[in-house]
Formats: sequence, structure tokens, C-alpha cells
Amino acid sequence: MTQTEQKERAAIYAVHALLAEGLLFPGMKIGLGTGSTAAPAIREIARLAQSGALAGIKAAATSFQTEILCEELGIPVYSLNSRQLGSSLDAAIDGADEIDPQNRLIKGGGAALLREKIVAYSAKRFVVVADETKAVASLGAAFPLPVEVVAEARVSVAARLRETGASCVLREGVRKCGPVITDSGNMILDCRWQCPVDPAEYEALINAIAGVVENGFFTRRQPLVFIGKADGSVEVRGSA
Ligand code: A5P
Repeated sequence: MTQTEQKERAAIYAVHALLAEGLLFPGMKIGLGTGSTAAPAIREIARLAQSGALAGIKAAATSFQTEILCEELGIPVYSLNSRQLGSSLDAAIDGADEIDPQNRLIKGGGAALLREKIVAYSAKRFVVVADETKAVASLGAAFPLPVEVVAEARVSVAARLRETGASCVLREGVRKCGPVITDSGNMILDCRWQCPVDPAEYEALINAIAGVVENGFFTRRQPLVFIGKADGSVEVRGSA
């Protein structure tokens, strides 16, 4: 299977496994992730909503990309602040950039980490779908950690991060001059350390720097993970 096929296989397998377990159900409040693996899961959820199996679902979207996809598919989207969602979700499903053996994650390759983390940490169950290239022995060895910063603190946050041994690169736009501006109006520093850092310790430590909005380590939830493999199988890690 190609990487794209693995993503689609993991996404659709996960949706049906969750439905069979009663973790997806009509009328539920669901968080919908961002990226090329979350998208086929969202399409399948929309199809099931139309068929009645997931009638009446209410969604929280993790990005403008996902809001637009939901508009196209007819999935009603609400703010987490809304009365309809009441700031809690029954489940959230999303992709990841890296997954370690303890199911800790790096996210934010699409710069959507802030709303992704708010949604994931507001959900009773957090589900991750990915292809096998995302499974790694140690977080951050290959994929840099995205850190979302307010524009005014771009230089001071990079200086503080350098004191921890990081090198930081301001993420540049594609077909847009200058830096990427996130959905919440901030900038992204992509950070690498020469030796792996402790993800749980650094998730908290980085967020304590003035001017940091959020970082891409996701360690405070134990997600249920579905990994699509090249041989067509899906590895399921963790429990709901
Ligand atoms: C968005 O900011 C990211 O966290 C995505 O969830 C992550 O990059 C996975 O994207 P793909 O499924 O497109 O690889």
C-alpha cells in the first residue's frame, strides 16, 4: 500500500472500529482533526451521518481546513464555547506527525496544534490515525517540534529555547511571502534538539516560557492509535 492508501485504510478502519464499540454514536459531540489522515475519517463520518448511523452529530473543528471540509460535507460545526458543545466532547479523532512507543505524539506539521490540543484535551476519548511512517522510537529525532508563539515574542522565545539546546527555525509560508501565520494569528518555530528531550517534561517546560502559546508535544492524553501498514494491516495500540 502507498502512504496515502495506508492513511485512508487506518482512518476508515478506525471509524468503523469505534462505531462497532459504541464510541461513535448518533448525536455525539466529536472533535475533528486536521490533515491528510484526518480527512478520510471525516469523510467517512459524514457518510455515516447522512446514512443515519451517526445522525445528529455536532463537531468541533481543529482548523479552518477542517471547518471548510465540514461545510462541504454537511457536518455541523460549533465553537467549543457554544451551548451545543458546552466545552466537552465525547471523542476526538486526529492525525499525528510522530507517535512513540508510549503513544506520545508530536503534532503541528500543519500548524494546527493549538486547536488540535484544545480539542484533544477536551475529549473523553482521543483517537489518532496514521500511516506507519509516523511510528518512531523517539519523538523529535526526525520531525522538528512545532512551537506556536505570539509574533512579538518570536526572538525572545527562540533565545529561551536555545538555552535548552534547541535550534529554532521560523516556519516560512508556501505561496505566501514571510512566516506562516496560524489560524489563531501566531507564528511557528520548528525546534530540534541534538539529543532527544523528555516529551512530558518539555511539554510543560516550553509552555512556561512567556510568549509561547502552545507546543506540539501531546503527552497528557493516552490516545487510542490506529496505524495503517504497507501490507494492508492496521495496528491498534492502546485502549479506549
Ligand atoms: C496538523 O497541524 C497536524 O498536527 C496534523 O494532524 C499532522 O501533521 C498529521 O498530518 P497528516 O495526516 O497530513 O500527515
